[in-house]
Amino acid sequence: MDDANGPRAGEAVLAATPPMGWNSWNRFRCYELTEEVVMRTADALVASGMRDAGYEYVVVDDCWQAFRRDPAGRLRAHPGRFPSGMAALADEVHARGLKFGMYLAPGRKTCAMIYDRYPGEELGSFGRERQDLETLAGWGIDYLKYDWCRANRGGTGLAEGDAFARMSAAIERIDRPIVYSISEYGRTRPWTWAPPIAHLWRTTGDISPDWRSVMRIADQQHGLAAYAGPGSWNDPDMLEVGNDGLSDIESRSHFMLWAMLAAPLMAGNDLRTMEESTRRLLTHPGVLAISQDALGRQGARTARDPTYDVWRRELADGTAVGVLNRRSRPATALIHDGWITTARGNRLARLGDGARNVWTDASATEGALRFSGREMHVFRVPGPAIAT
Ligand code: GLA
Repeated sequence: MDDANGPRAGEAVLAATPPMGWNSWNRFRCYELTEEVVMRTADALVASGMRDAGYEYVVVDDCWQAFRRDPAGRLRAHPGRFPSGMAALADEVHARGLKFGMYLAPGRKTCAMIYDRYPGEELGSFGRERQDLETLAGWGIDYLKYDWCRANRGGTGLAEGDAFARMSAAIERIDRPIVYSISEYGRTRPWTWAPPIAHLWRTTGDISPDWRSVMRIADQQHGLAAYAGPGSWNDPDMLEVGNDGLSDIESRSHFMLWAMLAAPLMAGNDLRTMEESTRRLLTHPGVLAISQDALGRQGARTARDPTYDVWRRELADGTAVGVLNRRSRPATALIHDGWITTARGNRLARLGDGARNVWTDASATEGALRFSGREMHVFRVPGPAIAT
């Protein structure tokens, strides 16, 4: 198979399970992004237990750049917000046992130049793909986010597939494993063409910290499960867990959905100041075990009624079954005879024997299954082991 980013003989699969880490954009966006934030976030990844729970990549998104390139055409770090430079920052991140990621865009502009009035010039990588990748690889990146940002504008003649393949070829030339995350917001059905060239591809527009956005994105994942697998992931965008705009329950359901979807788990909150409830959610061993299951099958929505959505994900040794109360009002379902049913007895999902509630780790027992508004319950049901 001509899998450009696939493993060479003797190499482990990169991103064999959905990548986990932190990205600066959702919380710090453009002008609040500084090296101090990134360094203290790396500290917090260690102190919170997140690193040990599997969060690995610290990704600096857009707005790290100085407004102009240097005389040799190389990108530079913004001198005010990144005074130590990117190589030093990568070293600090690596010294904490973490990996480092950065952001580029394939056209003439980055998205912040378009949407955040970032006053840069020629910060896009058009015609400089190799130079820019070599610059970042020289600083020590392990992860690249490559973000479309209307790259066809400005006379580039670029189309998505070609633009993202060009950078994949540049990555191939570098003797360094780099996870390649691409983003064109799902517009050209990247799940149909990106698996050979990228490890993850965005499937939708940008997430925002509100329930409607989380639900809209979750709905858009319906039908995409077959395209994901080890080394190739649908990316429904970064987490808003713990950000203002989502309640604790909404954050929990959002996180559980992303685990059921085998989505990359890139925390997008301020790890330096997060609440203990957010830390516990992000490091929950049962939810993370589903996310990182070795089989690497994405879950699918198998049923829906006016109140509930049902998701199922096949695991290496069983099944995860999730039921979400989409509504803001509390609801009560039933567990009866190995099924989850509505209060009226309509079957929603088969549970079988030995199911445990993932959040509480308690066995599923016959009787009422109560949901508060927008709450999701996920059960893990044992089954025969499937070789991975
Ligand atoms: C786009 C992407 C976001 C973020 C910003 C940066 O909107 O979808 O995830 O990278 O650009 O400007």
